[in-house]
Amino acid sequence: MKKAIDSIMPSSSAGMSRIDGRLKVTGAAKYSAEYTPAGLTYGVLVGSTITKGSITSIDTKAAGQAPGVLAVITHLNAPKVPGDQPEGGKPVPPKGAFKVFYDDKIYYNGQPIALVIADTFERALFGASLVKAQYHTDKHITNLPDNRSNGFPPRGEGTYKRGTEDAWKAAPFKVEQEYIVPTVTHNPMELHAIIANWDADNKLSVWDKTQGVKGTQEDLAHLFKLPVENVQVHSQFVGGAFGSALRTWPHEVAAIIGAKVVKKPVKLVLSRADMFTSVGYRPFTWQKIAIGATADGKLTGITHEAAGQTSSYENFTEGPTGVSQNLYACPNVNTKYHLVALDIATPTWMRGPGEATGSFALESALDELSYSLKLDPVELRLRNYAEKDPESGKPFSSKFLNEAYQLGADHIGWSERKQEPASVKKDGWLVGYGMAGGMFGAYRSGATIRAKMNTDGSLLLQSAVSDIGPGTGTAMVLIASEQMGIPAEKIRFEMGDSSLPNAPTQGGSATTASVGSAVYQACADLKEKFQKLIGNGGTDKPDYAKVLKEHNLPSLEVVTETGGGNGMEKYAMNSWSVHFVKVLVNPATGVVKIDKVACVADSGHIISPKTARSQVVGGAIGGIGMALMEESIIDHRYGRYINNNFADYHVPVNADIPQIDALFVNKPDPIINPMGAKGMAEIALIGMAAAVANAVYNASGKRVRDLPITPDKVMA
Ligand code: MOS
Repeated sequence: MKKAIDSIMPSSSAGMSRIDGRLKVTGAAKYSAEYTPAGLTYGVLVGSTITKGSITSIDTKAAGQAPGVLAVITHLNAPKVPGDQPEGGKPVPPKGAFKVFYDDKIYYNGQPIALVIADTFERALFGASLVKAQYHTDKHITNLPDNRSNGFPPRGEGTYKRGTEDAWKAAPFKVEQEYIVPTVTHNPMELHAIIANWDADNKLSVWDKTQGVKGTQEDLAHLFKLPVENVQVHSQFVGGAFGSALRTWPHEVAAIIGAKVVKKPVKLVLSRADMFTSVGYRPFTWQKIAIGATADGKLTGITHEAAGQTSSYENFTEGPTGVSQNLYACPNVNTKYHLVALDIATPTWMRGPGEATGSFALESALDELSYSLKLDPVELRLRNYAEKDPESGKPFSSKFLNEAYQLGADHIGWSERKQEPASVKKDGWLVGYGMAGGMFGAYRSGATIRAKMNTDGSLLLQSAVSDIGPGTGTAMVLIASEQMGIPAEKIRFEMGDSSLPNAPTQGGSATTASVGSAVYQACADLKEKFQKLIGNGGTDKPDYAKVLKEHNLPSLEVVTETGGGNGMEKYAMNSWSVHFVKVLVNPATGVVKIDKVACVADSGHIISPKTARSQVVGGAIGGIGMALMEESIIDHRYGRYINNNFADYHVPVNADIPQIDALFVNKPDPIINPMGAKGMAEIALIGMAAAVANAVYNASGKRVRDLPITPDKVMA
């Protein structure tokens, strides 16, 4: 086995720093709310105070007369959004999650019912406080466990079966347990924000927090029936998103409607409270897992049921049961996934969507099984190691998960772990170790890159892609630097602008594989163009600047388009992770302290060591938040979130997080793309919550199956 130390990326690791790091830490990087077009006005949304029903009257008079207020927009006076209107008498599905200011219907608490626009933010906020609505109130339901019997299968596949159904029941060793992942809200530092401006009657510009400028451009063109090229989307810097900016939301449409009314640019920034109702969340999900095994730890059957919440007006589906179908070699697996429609806003994808939820249940249940078998949890996983894709039977494009287990176990000091729970105490704290793994599909989609070499030897790369924080530009510059044989300082990567060459939305851990492949190929194409110029006898890495001057050319450029999905027909492609956690549990107070974390990613070749480390550490912290703190709580009497602020909704802070070590197998995948790189965004979080829960059990003997693991659930 390769020595672990070679693969550790400590905090002071070598590797290039972020190309935009200085801009970000000095405040020079501009986020969507920070632009100041001439005549800028400010919008503030008014939210519904009921959870279900309809607006019977809305009084906007006082707001309209308040100082500085330019417009008060409601469903009664809003200009129609053409893309929301019925076609051929049939209603069209909403592009903006629901149709804002469309009619008097209320679907969830906090739903925007009015937009007040004023010459300053404060005056808009005051105006918004004066809007008064009367409602007809219907009985609402916001509680999933009480309404699970109303679940329905999502369109398409809700069930899966291979082998015998419920085969676990006949096994000599078995576990059957229920698990809860509560609603968890994306809370990136940057609030969702948009500045919308109509440059002409049929021309729209927005500065908008989005994970995909091209996707936003298309949605807005569709909604406002504009030619796509007449919609300009800017999103040069994004201060985190985790999935919340993967689609177009009602506040974006509201700001654009507002700009149409006041004929001026309108800035609309969601409040932190709005973040809980306006841009999706990880849906509350109930799960039941049953696993059967032989005495030597061979899995004989897995049954996995899940019920996730969605809204009453839209079905959001993800794949929480997928991990049970794919993670281990097990001949008999059956799964069922249902949705429960509640009177809440639609959920959305959140880092590791589906898998993060499913792996908490599966990897907790497997840990429980390891105790009944009296078998080391790593050994249990190795005994059920999938050498080929359990679902399709296809070979993996690459899988080094067994090496990842070894790296992580060595690094955390797994040999110190005692199988007997609550058996180790140090300085009054119970000490325990836990581990759990994750997987996520390794995807690749098409992308286009423009690459232009200038006479000063500098290279400009352009792509519409957004960077929500992982350091996409940095990775792209590193790929180009290696391919062109020029220093990174000579390369500029322009992005986050819908007028740039096509790129996919940043999501699904696929950006480096997708856009990186285009950068790689664009560099190859550009080099070939230089070779043609030079003719025979050229070297592989010519002096580009000199060649341009010799040929009297100001620059040489290529536009390269690459396709997606290669290898998907023949191979199963995944990234893999395993998380090892050491915790301290205070037996009197139930406080859980994370003592040490080692996260190992099998995500192919590592292109940018520093940003890869950040990516993994960030995911692990997200997983710790999910495990110990994060829960968006609704008071079901009113259908309203009661902890929609950073005082009450807890996320990990520095004091909660010890040194987290990110380790990489760092072996290229020979199939997915020329760099051999696979995604690591989702796998950094997937499995982490179970690893913490498993460590808490090992330390304290307390098995917590409903997240988050707050002290009250751990106290003796
Ligand atoms: Mo991610 S949930 O694909 O932003």
